[in-house]
Amino acid sequence: MGTIAVLGAGKIGEALLSGLLSGGRSAEDLLFTERHPERAAELESRYGITNVTIEEAAARADLLVIAVKPQDIDPVLAELAPLLRPSSLVVSLCAGLPTSLFERRLPPNTPVVRVMPNTPMLVGEAMSAVSPGSHATREHVQTVTELLSCVGKVVEVPESQQDAVTALSGSGPAYFFYLVEAMIDAGILLGLPRAVAERLIVQSAVGAAKMLDEGAGHPVLLREAVTSPGGTTINAIRELENHGVRAALLAAIEAARDRSVELGRAQQQD
Ligand SMILES: NC(=O)c1ccc[n+]([C@@H]2O[C@H](COP(=O)([O-])OP(=O)(O)OC[C@H]3O[C@@H](n4cnc5c(N)ncnc54)[C@H](OP(=O)(O)O)[C@@H]3O)[C@@H](O)[C@H]2O)c1
Repeated sequence: MGTIAVLGAGKIGEALLSGLLSGGRSAEDLLFTERHPERAAELESRYGITNVTIEEAAARADLLVIAVKPQDIDPVLAELAPLLRPSSLVVSLCAGLPTSLFERRLPPNTPVVRVMPNTPMLVGEAMSAVSPGSHATREHVQTVTELLSCVGKVVEVPESQQDAVTALSGSGPAYFFYLVEAMIDAGILLGLPRAVAERLIVQSAVGAAKMLDEGAGHPVLLREAVTSPGGTTINAIRELENHGVRAALLAAIEAARDRSVELGRAQQQD
């Protein structure tokens, strides 16, 4: 993989750098760009990695990960384009930006791989979906998959599915946070102290996620196993069905997908 430069060491960029170090990569192989000197100094002292300019990153890195906000992409690509070496691989973590945008603005034949990560990258549990651009090879995809495996799980999808991925796993953590928040409120309604309700629900979420992750069974079977005849859980399930929670989730995720398509179209029009 050679030298890796992260352009824009914000939340996601820092999480990736930290994951790469924990995964055994040497600090000498990692570079980052950052526009605030205090933030750059903080990251250099915390991780022992080197802050560089975009020019130095283009000259030294074999793989450049772009982790700026989508609205900040223009100046980064304008600066990078005349400096990029032909063999460099560009990885975009920018939500909603198509590989064609990078291919148009970077030198001809630049390999680009688009990634949709999510915030659990901050704790090494990201779900990332990768899609190769038109000049990226199988080896490039393999390289990016290995890179992201340091901070979670990785799947490959055609780029046409990235809007669905954005709606499902990109925004996914927010849906779980929302559910947890609502369930803690339910605990308060039942008279439990907030701290106790929070502990009960968060650990239940961790336990349920672990069972699903470890292949303890299909979600339907796991739910059926705790839904005994005439019991408490089935009464709760009846209320969830009465309130259309399943239909609400389908509609919510479809709305997120539609918004992602809309934002992507706006980006294409430039
Ligand atoms: N957070 C998520 O849940 C999530 C999920 C999926 C995808 N993503 C994608 O990941 C990317 C990063 O998101 P984030 O949440 O990490 O954002 P963030 O915390 O705002 O990080 C972006 C960083 O890039 C810096 N930056 C902007 N322009 C720069 C430039 N020209 N040179 C050097 N640094 C520059 C920003 O500096 P300033 O502080 O000065 O602006 C900031 O430190 C975004 O494209 C986002 O779409 C994020």
